Amino acid sequence: MSETSPLISIRGITKSFGNFIAVDNIDLDINEGELFVLLGGSGCGKTTLLRMLAGFEKPTSGTISIEGSDMTGVEPYARPVNMMFQSYALFPHMSVERNVGYGLKREGVARAERKKRVDEMLEMVELEQFSKRKPHQLSGGQRQRVALARCLIKRPKVLLLDEPLGALDKRLREQTQFELMKLQDRLGTTFVVVTHDQEEAMTLATRIAVMDQGKFVQVGTPAEIYEMPQSRFVADFIGSINMIDGVVKSISGNTLTIHAESDDANYTVESNDQIEIGDQVSLAIRPEKIHVDAYDADNNSNPSEQKSDNTDKTDNRFIGTISEMAYLGGTSTLRVTTRGGRVFQVTSTNRKRHLTGKHDLDWDDQVEISFSPSNAIVLKS
Ligand SMILES: Nc1ncnc2c1ncn2[C@@H]1O[C@H](COP(=O)(O)OP(=O)(O)O)[C@@H](O)[C@H]1O
Ligand SMILES: [Mg+2]
Repeated sequence: MSETSPLISIRGITKSFGNFIAVDNIDLDINEGELFVLLGGSGCGKTTLLRMLAGFEKPTSGTISIEGSDMTGVEPYARPVNMMFQSYALFPHMSVERNVGYGLKREGVARAERKKRVDEMLEMVELEQFSKRKPHQLSGGQRQRVALARCLIKRPKVLLLDEPLGALDKRLREQTQFELMKLQDRLGTTFVVVTHDQEEAMTLATRIAVMDQGKFVQVGTPAEIYEMPQSRFVADFIGSINMIDGVVKSISGNTLTIHAESDDANYTVESNDQIEIGDQVSLAIRPEKIHVDAYDADNNSNPSEQKSDNTDKTDNRFIGTISEMAYLGGTSTLRVTTRGGRVFQVTSTNRKRHLTGKHDLDWDDQVEISFSPSNAIVLKS
């Protein structure tokens, strides 16, 4: 196998259950050492795809090859793959060390070698002092590490993890995300992780595949998925975003003017996509890419700023009122209602300390919001 050929090659994989298509004609390459995340809502086919990689589910059509070998007809145990189940599936009556060593025992690895590898693995997941405990004597996070150790001890080329952090509470989950990344980095094992949690996907992944109804809707690095979503679905699914529906009114170079009927306003956005005048599009802009400043109507004599609507303006600058505000510590989330009646979600960074509870900006304040055409995205579907 050459250095550039992918570790996992999926071609035209489909899985039907009766008339229902759970995984729909997916192509994907995963490279060695990646932490690849399958992200999507419940029922979109993530687990089914993972089970086909593991060999627990037989594809209806298509092929999977790992390290250049076709996996069709290869039993799960014979694949260079191990799967960590959502439930962890630990043996309740066995101690931690017996749980971890179970796979090696079944393979007939000699006792001394087994002991050495179990100790090594327990050290890796920082569970040395818990080796004699039973699963019920452990915390959720520790049980998860036992499950990980049990999978990794067989030194698979690929570890498949189905919602590995799903059973943990939020705080522990964040901490465990970093442990998982550290472990993956240290071992160099390729991980394929399933999650429905977009923040988790963004944190963990080298690349993400966003799934919907059995299909991949976009595959890319976390930054690509966040900054350049290719569809409304992805833009909506990952993080918060303001979506403005409108019609392309004019095009000049790569700058488009979009007219939105609902607030009778024009918006300007840069795009290199193939778009024509008259196209129905959505402009998408992230809350943190919108500037917000206090607006003092009395001290603002610039007539163009005084206009009650912004129909003729093309620099995405609007006057509005703070209709909602949530203080989140490092940032505040604002809802600003423009004079045209559109509500923008805006994130502002709290740079100064305000122990009095009084903020620079507050409910019912008049503000001016603006965003750069290069920070907005145009979506056609
Ligand atoms: N063995 C099965 N028989 C029938 N339908 C199934 C079976 N396994 C999964 N499905 C269906 O396929 C779809 C995808 O399931 P799954 O891959 O578990 O989704 P996810 O893991 O993304 O939540 C769901 O609608 C589920 O009900
Ligand atoms: Mg699932």
